[in-house]
Amino acid sequence: MLENLFAKRINKNIPSRLQGLFPETNFPDNISFGGGCPDEKSFPARELVNAYQEAIINEKEHSFQYHDVKGPERLREFLADRAQKKMGIANVTSEDVMLTAGGQQGIELVAKLFLEAGDKMAVEVPCYVGALAAFDVYEPDYYEIPMEDDGVNLDCLEATLKAHPDIKLFYTVPDFHNPTGITMSLEKRQRLVELANKYNFVILEDTPYRDLRYHGESLPSIKSFDTEGRVIFLSSFSKILSPAYRLGWLVASPEIKAELTKLKLAEDLEVPYIPSATVDNYIAHHDLDAHIEGLKKIYRQKLDKMDQALHAYLPADAKISHPEGGFFFWIELGDDANTSQLLLEEAIPNEHLIYVPSASFYPDRDHVNGLRVNFTGSSLAEIDEGCRRLGRLLNVDSLMQVAI
Ligand SMILES: Cc1ncc(COP(=O)(O)O)c(C=O)c1O
Repeated sequence: MLENLFAKRINKNIPSRLQGLFPETNFPDNISFGGGCPDEKSFPARELVNAYQEAIINEKEHSFQYHDVKGPERLREFLADRAQKKMGIANVTSEDVMLTAGGQQGIELVAKLFLEAGDKMAVEVPCYVGALAAFDVYEPDYYEIPMEDDGVNLDCLEATLKAHPDIKLFYTVPDFHNPTGITMSLEKRQRLVELANKYNFVILEDTPYRDLRYHGESLPSIKSFDTEGRVIFLSSFSKILSPAYRLGWLVASPEIKAELTKLKLAEDLEVPYIPSATVDNYIAHHDLDAHIEGLKKIYRQKLDKMDQALHAYLPADAKISHPEGGFFFWIELGDDANTSQLLLEEAIPNEHLIYVPSASFYPDRDHVNGLRVNFTGSSLAEIDEGCRRLGRLLNVDSLMQVAI
């Protein structure tokens, strides 16, 4: 009855893209390649407990009080320095850095700042499911730009911009893209900024996996080519330290950052003191890059294992991506495959295996012949066994059973 009172943008009949993304299973031998989870054994738990205690000891009773929307100055100075040295972004100060509740809040705030119902935005397809969930609420008209092996197809983007010059926003994950694992080439990064200047749109560059390169050379961020304050650079501590602190950060022009801060104030008033001070203390007393080097060692082995196991067990015509970092492989099957159905009817009940079907990564949920698998959250043995099970599933017989 009350649904008549709900805002027009609320549609009870459309489930959240994020709810039910990882179906619950109680099988003891379950293997999940579903979530984008870091390796739990890699969390520096003892150091983080010490950093947490220090946060409370330093501020005493005041730790439990309200604090401010900016968060720790020392942490923002650290991130400003990192943005210059590691991302190649010139002249960043702590005032240009905004802390957010995970990268996810950064995406949601940008959506709130730029999108009204019917506004046009372009997204890479496939596209990170959490970003689509955040954008969906603001009801944009999506323009889907396909991925190529060296990043999004910019000829297609330019043709779309010519036809729809009022596109306002383009969302991209240029480093080890979620879900495909693809990295955008240097040439494309430069050309994308030229297109943004020419066709007057804003780029949201979302880079939570940027520091996690296991093979090849790092590239400058898209933001480093920004000449007109059109690129918002977004990153997060979730994949390189821990997702439990819900701490992300962005670098934006003063004009954009001021508006995003107003929206954050309205949304949750402040950067919570205890999580942000814990991360701040951890970084002050430990070498974050040494920790990341340790992660890279572990994840490089896992990536190589999954690469080898997917090629060993999957049918020869499965198209498997070649990520050089990040968390995911992307697999495309023949046109008749339906990976959503296969997951519920075969993978979970028979093989006790979870992956994310491709439908989740498309605005209209209309591409059903692909899947994403995560390699960071499983052990080497689980990766091998999970790929063996996936291979069994993707043989012609099980695909035929689902198709019938
Ligand atoms: C591309 C991308 N952006 C943003 C996020 C959200 O991360 P956070 O935990 O920082 O909110 C994720 C998480 O998986 C992601 O893959």
